[in-house]
Amino acid sequence: MKLKILYDNRSMADGVGSGWGFSCLVGDDLLFNTGEKTSLLLENMGKMGVKPASLASVVVSHADVYSAGGLIDLLDQTPSANVYLHSKFPQAFLDNVRRKTGDRLVLVDEFTELSDGIYATGPYPTREQALVIRGESGLVVLTGCGQPSIADILRNIRKHLDEPIDLVIGGLHLACRVYEGTDAEGVEAIKAFRRLGVKRTGLCHCTGEEAMQMFRDEYGDNFIEAGAGLTLQV
Ligand SMILES: [Fe+2]
Repeated sequence: MKLKILYDNRSMADGVGSGWGFSCLVGDDLLFNTGEKTSLLLENMGKMGVKPASLASVVVSHADVYSAGGLIDLLDQTPSANVYLHSKFPQAFLDNVRRKTGDRLVLVDEFTELSDGIYATGPYPTREQALVIRGESGLVVLTGCGQPSIADILRNIRKHLDEPIDLVIGGLHLACRVYEGTDAEGVEAIKAFRRLGVKRTGLCHCTGEEAMQMFRDEYGDNFIEAGAGLTLQV
């Protein structure tokens, strides 16, 4: 399965712009999160050869502006995409989406297989959903902010799919805790990753520079420098 990171705080490719947020194309036609601004998302899609009209599915983790901000205007260009949200989105946001999608809006409130080997976790036990892909070397987990606990999200995934986790990619939102003068959140996250046997990480977006450095030190060659413009085979 091919992953294309379309939106991130960092750019890893000439000509591909960066902006606070995260968005990743999975395979040919599934989009996970949108980043903050539709304009930058569409620009980067163009540069990476992705046509919005060909999207079949858009999955969004939670109502955070950096994960979902680009969604509403994107929907004008995705006439046939099913949109997978959940009941923990604010009602006004769901109403806005439904006005554009009608019954193509699907609420995922439980761990659900969306298509062969691709799962949305639903917002339990946390308030956001992750996307899980059965890749060539194990499960690949895409996360928006990983809040309030990536450990809970990963444990829940393992409860439903008792398979090794190859890669966690996306944001972990550990920045504020590190900048507040404690690395405890980073240490706990690394311990959880190791306990759960996560083989590789591609942490980016809101993980935070200091927390990313902790993971980089821990994972060495298995820390993937992820950012907008990166294409990855999993
Ligand atoms: Fe975040």
